Amino acid sequence: MMWAVALILVFLSCGILAWRRRNRNKDEPPPLPGALPLIGHIHLLLGNSSQLWNTAKKVCYSSLNAGGVIISVYIGPRTTYFVTDPEDCLTVTNTCLEKDGFYNFGKPWFGDGLITADVQTWKVHRKLLNPAFNQSILDGFMDVLNEQARRLVKNLEVEVDKGPFDHFAYILLNVLETTCLTVMKVDFSDESLLNCEYVHAAEDMFKYLIERIQKPWLYSDVVFNWSFLKRKQDECLKILHNMSNTVLKKRKTEYLNNKQYKEIEGTTKGAKFRPFMDLLLELAIEKGAFNDRQIREHVDTMLVAGHDTTATVLMYTMLLVGSYPEVQQKIFEELHDVFGDEDRDVTKQDLSQLVYLEAVLKESMRFYPIGPFTIRNLDQDVKIRNCTLSKGRTCYLWFYGVHRHSMWGPDVEAFKPERWLDPKTLPKYLSAFAAFGMGKRSCIGKTYAMMSLKITLAQALAHVFRRYRVSGNHLLMTTKMDVLLKPVSGHHVTIEMRQNNQ
Ligand code: HEM
Repeated sequence: MMWAVALILVFLSCGILAWRRRNRNKDEPPPLPGALPLIGHIHLLLGNSSQLWNTAKKVCYSSLNAGGVIISVYIGPRTTYFVTDPEDCLTVTNTCLEKDGFYNFGKPWFGDGLITADVQTWKVHRKLLNPAFNQSILDGFMDVLNEQARRLVKNLEVEVDKGPFDHFAYILLNVLETTCLTVMKVDFSDESLLNCEYVHAAEDMFKYLIERIQKPWLYSDVVFNWSFLKRKQDECLKILHNMSNTVLKKRKTEYLNNKQYKEIEGTTKGAKFRPFMDLLLELAIEKGAFNDRQIREHVDTMLVAGHDTTATVLMYTMLLVGSYPEVQQKIFEELHDVFGDEDRDVTKQDLSQLVYLEAVLKESMRFYPIGPFTIRNLDQDVKIRNCTLSKGRTCYLWFYGVHRHSMWGPDVEAFKPERWLDPKTLPKYLSAFAAFGMGKRSCIGKTYAMMSLKITLAQALAHVFRRYRVSGNHLLMTTKMDVLLKPVSGHHVTIEMRQNNQ
């Protein structure tokens, strides 16, 4: 029964596709070669998430090699555009704020959280949530971030001189603990079982989202709701929502019991520790801005958007630093200049002095942009440099391609942190760096993420690199698209004792 419905839907879709393509606007961008009759480029979606990523890269390079032109790709009944030019990407991201229908696949998880919200909800909620990421709130997180970074260093020490190991496993749990603390003020650091369950459920959910995108017959909710994939997804959602619901209930009761609610006194000198959930509760209870479901959806969004991204960037950065000994040496020297032999916390002042470390981080994010694309629904015609994109189409904005654009210079394919130290070696067009997205719907957690990454790296590298040398080889790594750009294998590093402190 389900298959019959699926087949009918696929045939209907193909019919619409053929009809639409016959009516193609002559000014539209050139199509990607290889479209098959009726199904277009659907066959390119076949294969595992690693093959999918290789296909995406090939299409990016086709566009870049043709001078950053936009390419039309036919996926089922949809005509989609692939954009890799930084200027064109910015025009589209700022003109069309509506995310594509694929984001609805994430709604059972994130509901009206910022990533999946429709434009009207997003506009209101983003304005309400922006203050949660202002500098004074972030300053209140300094102690937690330092403490968590020390915990990571301690955990990593068991791997010293033991040969290659998967550093991502350590980083992911550590960053999840940090995110739970700053988003919900919940300390899960001694409950690794719960963390592991959550991490695996989140990982599986990403896999299922990609699987659904690869199976056009599951695009329809009617068909999907009968599928085995939906059942597996529901099991994960139970674990994921249980975490946020349990914490919400607990903290809401605490809030209501304390009518004279005061901000939680933190330990950071001069700054208050104020978790994200408290701001949501205040907005909900004092101003009626959110109901319980919306609070839960924002918390779920921040937990995932905050932990998996930051952990993946840290993992790539450590691997890259391990792959380039000269980069490692320069970080070592900079950390020595700032900290000397002192074993102390990283302060706000230190952060501004760690210029080379910041360059390494940015270059890592340019090289491996973990959010390699975003998808927008064109709710109006969009005039870009060489053509007009038609209203009603879907537009893929490829940040991976933007980071490989010729604007970066002839050494675009090289990992070169030095390019960030001299404005002359950077693209004139600032939007060419899109690791945090582009335009109005770009990352709300950007400043938090940079601060957290710098503290963790400075702590980890100051302590680990002072005595140990990290090595790895990122060229042995294959990557895959699990919504985020993730490694498949070969992302192992080794930590060894330095000889004579060299
Ligand atoms: C290095 C770490 C991070 C990276 C590379 C990153 C990257 C991104 C990117 C590329 C987007 C745009 C997604 C799109 O257009 O579809 C985005 C959006 C977003 N990020 Fe981040 N992010 C990071 C950390 C964080 C953190 C720490 C948080 C929160 C605690 C966060 C919360 C969000 C949210 C809520 C959005 C949606 C924004 C909106 O639509 O208004 N991110 N991020």
